[in-house]
Amino acid sequence: MSGQNQQHYQKISNIYDDLWSYSEEYIKFMTTKIIEYLRLKPTDTLVDLGCGTGIYAKSILKQIQLDNSIICVDPSEKMLQQIPDSPQYKIMALDAIDFLFQAEEVYNKVLIKEVIHHIDNKELLFSRLFQLLTSDGIFLLILLPPTIDYPLFDEALHRYEKNQPHYSNVANLLEKVGFKVSVNLVEYLQAIPKSQYFHMVENRYMSLLSLFDDKQLAEGLAEMSQKYAQQSVLEFPDRFVFITASKL
Ligand SMILES: C[S@@+](CC[C@H](N)C(=O)[O-])C[C@H]1O[C@@H](n2cnc3c(N)ncnc32)[C@H](O)[C@@H]1O
Repeated sequence: MSGQNQQHYQKISNIYDDLWSYSEEYIKFMTTKIIEYLRLKPTDTLVDLGCGTGIYAKSILKQIQLDNSIICVDPSEKMLQQIPDSPQYKIMALDAIDFLFQAEEVYNKVLIKEVIHHIDNKELLFSRLFQLLTSDGIFLLILLPPTIDYPLFDEALHRYEKNQPHYSNVANLLEKVGFKVSVNLVEYLQAIPKSQYFHMVENRYMSLLSLFDDKQLAEGLAEMSQKYAQQSVLEFPDRFVFITASKL
């Protein structure tokens, strides 16, 4: 992860969950999909690679009891500090690739959600995962699509499109290292009070927004104010690409 991104997550860690807490329903929806696509069962051992504050690890345990601790891995110690100190979680402050090469854990389910844009050597990550995953294992990689309909300012959307890895390149790479891959689109209709969304943008809720300095962000927010002057709630489809990779 770049130094800028590392700083971004260290800074945002203690408000990260609050920024997202406007919609318990959305977190629940995504969690149900994650459990379904991972075919999660009580005896599984799950790694949440790039878990952040553990929003989804915590939410998964509200929906399903797991016999084994969820292994929560993230290089940002501050993000990890938001995860309860409990035997339900095994917390490891490591970069994803370092985890795969250093840790001796055995696991059969792996989740990587909205992290892959931070990983430079994706092929190394995927080939190592292919070596380590049990034969019945499932690796679920979730990322945003090449374009998004978020009510952001134009330059933010433009920078997003420029930087976001394309899911078909990610899927091809997974196939290249040996995985069987399936790609699905999951959509959720967000309805966020405008003041809440503006608060999220002001606080740079996406790492993308850390590419803009305070002045540029203020200009962006002014553009959004004009564009959405008539709305009190911002509705937009939030689309996610779910890439499921397995050996069988
Ligand atoms: C957008 S957040 C997603 C967090 C969580 N997966 C979620 O969906 O709520 C991205 C996370 O990726 C982590 N990250 C960045 N580079 C990473 C790397 N090389 N290995 C593992 N995690 C990384 C960041 O520290 C941050 O917590």
